[in-house]
Amino acid sequence: MANPTLLILPGDGIGPEVMDQVKRVIDWFGDKRGLAFDVEEDLVGGAAYDAHGTPLHDDTMKKALKADAVLLGAVGGPKYDNLDFSVKPERGLLRLRKEMDLYSNLRPAQCFDALADFSSLKKDVVAGLDIMIVRELTSGVYFGEPRGIFEEGNERVGINTQRYTEGEIDRVARSAFELARRRNNKVCSMEKANVMESGILWREVVQKVHDEDYPDVELSHMYADNGAMQLVRAPKQFDVILTDNLFGDILSDCAAMLTGSLGMLPSASLGAPNADGRPKALYEPVHGSAPDIAGQGKANPIACVLSFAMALRYSFDQGDEATRLEQAIEKVLADGARTADLMGPEGGTPISTVEMGDAILSALDASL
Ligand code: NAI
Ligand code: MG
Repeated sequence: MANPTLLILPGDGIGPEVMDQVKRVIDWFGDKRGLAFDVEEDLVGGAAYDAHGTPLHDDTMKKALKADAVLLGAVGGPKYDNLDFSVKPERGLLRLRKEMDLYSNLRPAQCFDALADFSSLKKDVVAGLDIMIVRELTSGVYFGEPRGIFEEGNERVGINTQRYTEGEIDRVARSAFELARRRNNKVCSMEKANVMESGILWREVVQKVHDEDYPDVELSHMYADNGAMQLVRAPKQFDVILTDNLFGDILSDCAAMLTGSLGMLPSASLGAPNADGRPKALYEPVHGSAPDIAGQGKANPIACVLSFAMALRYSFDQGDEATRLEQAIEKVLADGARTADLMGPEGGTPISTVEMGDAILSALDASL
């Protein structure tokens, strides 16, 4: 059987630096675990603009649509701030998400014990936290029509429209229930059905999908504002949280920060499953290109490495190997390895991006 294919798009700023460490990890799994991937690398964002005058070349788009999974670093940077909107680096990422139709965005909030002191919350509130937010990514108020700034009488009015079809809710709900079955069989769906019709429909459709096809999963519903409150009060009550694009944007950032640094946070964006059940998929760290530290060897590669762990689990059905990688990172942190972004008030000497890569590979070796 042909090897699964992986398209790597390092992008800009610290993107290539953190991706270099991920490539070492990918090679490790090929050498030591017999997990061979056909890896291809290409340009996205400012790097693609510099080479081709566009943030995503059509050929790259075609490769992404064909690949079994895409792994992206980060895009953007001050060098590109004055470019026309149509060729800004971010447009490359948005085009990937749109044309791959990646409607389900998975954002884990996981607290590594060694970093529990990092949280702004009390240690016992976050220690052992492991939740997953599923955010609808391709519809809702960021895309709904009508939208714009219009003249109305003698003043202007800004309009955006929250719009969800049953089909859009149905497919992201399925994605959350499938995920729940691989975790702890528990979903909490969040909307504002008390004040929004789109929220009423959301709740109805999620309940219907549940009753018809996922009755084994425990489902609850919560108003999103209460959800925000509960997330900072007692986050461990949740496992999978399912929500729309706007609420998901805010709730996932909030949940993520329960656990510390931006340099630790991976994400997955999934689309429709193909014939063998593998979804279209893009994996990327939550952080950006970090121009303030780019080129200095300071970036934390863990968010990008954990994004590859998500690829192992959700695209390649290698949950055990994903766990191996996550546990290696857990060990590295427990042993005290810290990039600069993970230095607490007690100080210490930070290690470099490459040294963090070295430490992860050693921990992987030790896992054999
Ligand atoms: P950022 O995430 O790049 O950086 C925010 C802060 O976190 C900076 O101080 C940075 O040094 C630090 N940081 C981020 N990742 C880190 C890592 N792995 N290790 C250590 N420290 C890390 O967000 P910012 O500064 O708002 O945006 C910078 C550029 O990145 C902009 O051009 C923005 O448009 C772009 N961006 C791209 C994203 C993407 O590619 N998905 C997402 C967010 C921003
Ligand atoms: Mg956000």
